[in-house]
Amino acid sequence: MLGVHFRDNGATGVYRFVKTEGYLADEAAGTLTCGSYGTIDPNPQLSALFKPIRKLLKNPASVSALPLDDRLLALWDQGHPYVLDLETLETRGEDTLGQLDDGQAYAAHYKRDGRTGEIYSFGITYDLHPALNVYASDPTGQIRQQTAIDLHCLPLVHDFILAGPYLVFFISPVRLNPFPVLAYQKSFGDCLGWHPELGTQILVLDRYSLRVISRGETDPWFQWHFGNGYVDADGCIVADMVRYEDFATNEYLKEVGLLNIQTAAPGTLWQVRLDPQSATVREAVEVLPLGGEFPVVNLQEVGYYSRYTYLSTYRPGADVGRDLWGTIARFDSETGDATIADIGENCYATEPVRAPDVLDPDRGWILTVVFDGDRETSEVWIFDGDRLDDEPVCKLALPGIIPISYHGTWRMGHGSWCVSLSLNTPYNFE
Ligand SMILES: [Fe+2]
Repeated sequence: MLGVHFRDNGATGVYRFVKTEGYLADEAAGTLTCGSYGTIDPNPQLSALFKPIRKLLKNPASVSALPLDDRLLALWDQGHPYVLDLETLETRGEDTLGQLDDGQAYAAHYKRDGRTGEIYSFGITYDLHPALNVYASDPTGQIRQQTAIDLHCLPLVHDFILAGPYLVFFISPVRLNPFPVLAYQKSFGDCLGWHPELGTQILVLDRYSLRVISRGETDPWFQWHFGNGYVDADGCIVADMVRYEDFATNEYLKEVGLLNIQTAAPGTLWQVRLDPQSATVREAVEVLPLGGEFPVVNLQEVGYYSRYTYLSTYRPGADVGRDLWGTIARFDSETGDATIADIGENCYATEPVRAPDVLDPDRGWILTVVFDGDRETSEVWIFDGDRLDDEPVCKLALPGIIPISYHGTWRMGHGSWCVSLSLNTPYNFE
């Protein structure tokens, strides 16, 4: 986890591994002791047949960060949150948020209402009775209400939307075949199959009661991430997402990790309008044909109308779908235009994060970590959110390389920014 703290006297960075149970076990053994999303467990155990699959996977706590008043949570889709110190990022241990039992996961992609601070999240239980657990927490992070929805299948769900009074899950036709995982023959990620004949299943929930309002089905597609959700003037749910035509993105991600990218998996920004009472799709439109990922909005607008979506995109001339992200774009949903920040040749950006200006809430700053492949350095770049096509207003040097990462967030009102990292690195600094 990388944390960057902005103070009156300057900015400081702190960068630490999350000392998870799996990390400590590996460190003590001097070798890999457990499987994870893309890794086969090297230690077959007969007892695995009687455990939920999440207990067989190492929780790297490496996908996203949830800052609370008194702690930072490091999250991964099949784990419990790990608690870190907000300032030092030292690991304090796992957190049940008051209610998580041993078999329940708390996924990486939560939604925090931009106005009330209420937090919603979910977790898939992969066992004989697969379930979608949905959690509602107060602003302290404590789970106040939860429900378990029977799934009757083993899908991959990575993100969802909060849209006014609704929570909406789009369940793409990806299904887990658990047997090769339990037999230690294949990794979890390699057991996920694409079944377009199943379509995309839609679940609409009332956010206050967590009851299912409607279920629907639509065309098959895959999405890792949503930008935002809200209810429009006609009462329809609007969902912004980066949509893929199939699940080739899973192979692409594996090849990224192996530094041998063969598979093109371009995703583009789409907007879907949905009737909440019937879960029927009224309209699905590709709004930005430029390939991209990691769509985010102003944190204060999560769940409500947001004009701008920020996302990582490709440089002009890039091998779209195979390359990594070389630009940051701001998409304007009112004009359909995108403003582009070009990071430069052989430089790559992480997810953009928007920090609101403390003096003018309509104004904001876009932060990202840039890796320069020529100089082999990493820097924090800060752009004026309204002038992405200008030079960054600030570049902060980091003392080591920061690998291309997943998700970050801004700690509202505290001048801190945390980015979770996906890959191990030989560099470590504080
Ligand atoms: Fe994600």
